[in-house]
Amino acid sequence: TGKGLSIWDEFVHRTPSPIAEHSTGDIACDSYHKYREDVAILKYFGAGVYRFSLSWSRILPTGRVDYINWARVQHYNDLIDLLIANNIEPIATLHKWDFPQPLMDIGGWTNDEVISHFVNFAHLAFRTFGDRVTKWVTFNEPNALCFWGYLKGTLAPGRRGIEDGKRCVHNVLKSHAKSYRLYDRVFRPHQHGKVGVVIFTQWYEPKDPGNPSHVKLAEFAVHIVWGLLASPIFFGKYPDEYETFLRLLSQKQGTLSTPLQFSLSEAAELRGSWDFCGIAHYTTNLVEPTNPSHDSGGISDPLGIKLSSDPGWPGGGNTSSNWGFYVVPWGFRKMLNWIKKRYGNPPIYVLENGYQAHPEDGLEDHDRVEYHRSYINEMLKVVRIDGVNVQMYAAWTLLDSFEWGDGYTINFGVVAVNFSDPDRQRTPKLSGSFLKHVFMNNGFPR
Ligand SMILES: *[C@@H]1O[C@H](CO)[C@@H](O)[C@H](O)[C@H]1NC(C)=O
Repeated sequence: TGKGLSIWDEFVHRTPSPIAEHSTGDIACDSYHKYREDVAILKYFGAGVYRFSLSWSRILPTGRVDYINWARVQHYNDLIDLLIANNIEPIATLHKWDFPQPLMDIGGWTNDEVISHFVNFAHLAFRTFGDRVTKWVTFNEPNALCFWGYLKGTLAPGRRGIEDGKRCVHNVLKSHAKSYRLYDRVFRPHQHGKVGVVIFTQWYEPKDPGNPSHVKLAEFAVHIVWGLLASPIFFGKYPDEYETFLRLLSQKQGTLSTPLQFSLSEAAELRGSWDFCGIAHYTTNLVEPTNPSHDSGGISDPLGIKLSSDPGWPGGGNTSSNWGFYVVPWGFRKMLNWIKKRYGNPPIYVLENGYQAHPEDGLEDHDRVEYHRSYINEMLKVVRIDGVNVQMYAAWTLLDSFEWGDGYTINFGVVAVNFSDPDRQRTPKLSGSFLKHVFMNNGFPR
C-alpha cells in the first residue's frame, strides 16, 4: 500500500526468473507486518541491538522527496519506539539492496544525479528518526552491491559492465561521504550519534603460504574486495591496487578502463567519514594464481585468481549463487587483525556474521550453533589477545528470509519461518537458544 517499486521487485519478477524456484520477495518473512512479534523474540533472546533497514522506496515511492509516504514513516516510528521501550538499541541502515526503480530508470548508481537523491533521503531519515536512532549505516555491503549488482549482474539491478561497476563504487562512496558530512554538521551536535558503513569482508588465505606469488595475490584480493570501498573512506583515496584491478578486468576489451579520481574536496569529504568500522563476515577462501579467464561469472577469474577451499573445512558451495561457504573461524581472526594493522585499529562493529544452511536442516541446527560458537570465540581472542577494538557483534540473521538468487532454498536465520503458512509462523532454532545464552551473559556462560 503506497510502497514504490524497488529494483528487487522488478528483478525477481523477470522472465526467466533469476531466482531459485522462481521465488519472489513479495511477502518473504513479512516482518513488516509482524514486527511486534519479532521485537518480542529479540527481547526473549536478550538482544541488545536490532539492526534493520529502512526501505527507501517505501518511504519515498518515487525515490525523490517530492512525495513522502507518511504512513510508512509511521511504521518505522512504531518499530523504533517499540525497540526502545524494550531496551533494544535500534541500528538503522539507509541502503540495503532495495533501491527505488524510478531512480534505476535514470541509471541508478551509474548516474551521479542519484547522489543528491540519496542525501535527501538520508536527511529525511536523520531528521525524522535521529532523535531515537543514534547508530546509522549509510550503505550495506557497497562492495557486494557494485560488484554483483553492477559489474557482474547476478544481483539486482542486474547490470553488467566494468564502467557501470566502477561508477557505482564512485557514486556510492560520494553519497556516503556527503551523508556523513551532513550528519556531522547538522545532526550530530544535538543527536550525538554515530555513522558508518558495513563492508563485506572475506578472508583470502594464500594456498601455499611459502609461495610469495600466492601471498601477494591473497593480499591483492583483500585490498580489492575490502579496500576498494574502505580505503577512500579511511584515507580519501582508492587503494594502489585499483588501477591493476581495472586493467585486469578490461584487458580483453579494446580499451583499458581508466581509474576515476576524487577531486580534492571530494577526497577531503571522504577521508575519515566514519565513526565506526562496520563489517560483514562469513567465510574464507584459499587463493592461488591461475590464467585469467573472462568467460565465467566470477570476479576472481578475470583477475587471475583461483579460489578454493581446504578439504578439511566444513561447509560447501552447492547453492545457485555458487558461493564457496566454509566454516573457517581463524580466517575471521586474521581478517580482524588485518584491519587493525592496515587501518589503524578502528573501533569495529561486526554487524553480520552467520551460517548458511538449508530449510530441511530443521530446528536442530547444530552446525549453525558450532559456527557462531567458534566465530564468537575467535572474536574473543581477537579482543583479549590481539588487542583489536571490536565493540559490537550482531548475528545474521534473526529470521529465515529471502536470500538473493537463492530465494528460500538457503537460510541464515536463528529463528525458522514457515513460508507455507500464511501467518509465517516463527520458531526459534537451537542456534537461537545458543545466542540467547551468549546475549544474556554478554559472553559464553561459565
Ligand atoms: C507450515 O504451515 C503449514 C500451513 O499452515 C502447515 O500445514 C505445516 O504443518 C507447517 N509446517 C511446520 C513445520 O510447522
